[in-house]
Amino acid sequence: MVEKIKTGISEFDEMLNGGFPKNRHIGFYGGPGTGKTTFTFEILYKGALMGEVGYYFTLEEPPEMIIENMETQFSEFRNIRDLVNKNMLIIQKNETYDINGIIQQIENGVLKYNVSRLVIDSLTIFKSLFSSEPEYRRGLIEFLNLLRTLDISVFPIIEAPTSSRESFEYSIEHYVLDGIINLYNIYRGETRIRALEIYKLRGTAHNTDIVPYRVTPRGIKVYVGEKLF
Ligand SMILES: Nc1ncnc2c1ncn2[C@@H]1O[C@H](COP(=O)(O)OP(=O)(O)O)[C@@H](O)[C@H]1O
Ligand SMILES: [Mg+2]
Repeated sequence: MVEKIKTGISEFDEMLNGGFPKNRHIGFYGGPGTGKTTFTFEILYKGALMGEVGYYFTLEEPPEMIIENMETQFSEFRNIRDLVNKNMLIIQKNETYDINGIIQQIENGVLKYNVSRLVIDSLTIFKSLFSSEPEYRRGLIEFLNLLRTLDISVFPIIEAPTSSRESFEYSIEHYVLDGIINLYNIYRGETRIRALEIYKLRGTAHNTDIVPYRVTPRGIKVYVGEKLF
């Protein structure tokens, strides 16, 4: 039996039949503003509440900006900063643009803080540090193999070129990761609907619908069983 970890987003855990398989690599794939940071941050936050240390490694936004944004979006999560001060939530930016330096920083952080859940924001930026596609493939596979030895669940973020559902493209990450969650921003007239899909997930049965979700002050709410339109 595959051991599971709860994301803490209750309807999403239902869709996953109890949670993500533990210590796997599950990518969050979506266009700009689809909620990749928000979604993965809540998974770390809920993990921290359950005693699991979460590590948000960003190659993009400064940590302070992420904390401020999350405190605004999740205004009823009162203890975000408290968890940061207690090292239950670690939010770090890369100190170098050297590939091996970045990998070393992540490994050091995971070991130092006894991390259980790791978000990498994003593999797309990590990829841009390589000089060619084949080098990235090789580098990514080596990096993922190293992460496998660390006893952590990893949630890499992958930026999709567009946020529309119609122009979905496969990328190398779709093949090498254990699971992929697609996040969408779907325009309907004047409004924009957020939706998610468990696109691929090794090791567990799961819901295969595209389901709407909302970001609320109390956390992400997934509307399982509701139609998109
Ligand atoms: N307080 C808020 N409540 C609900 N949604 C918000 C709030 N603040 C920002 N957002 C939405 O969240 C989006 C950013 O989400 P984010 O997780 O950063 O996306 P991504 O990481 O995929 O770019 C913004 O584009 C905005 O639409
Ligand atoms: Mg983001």
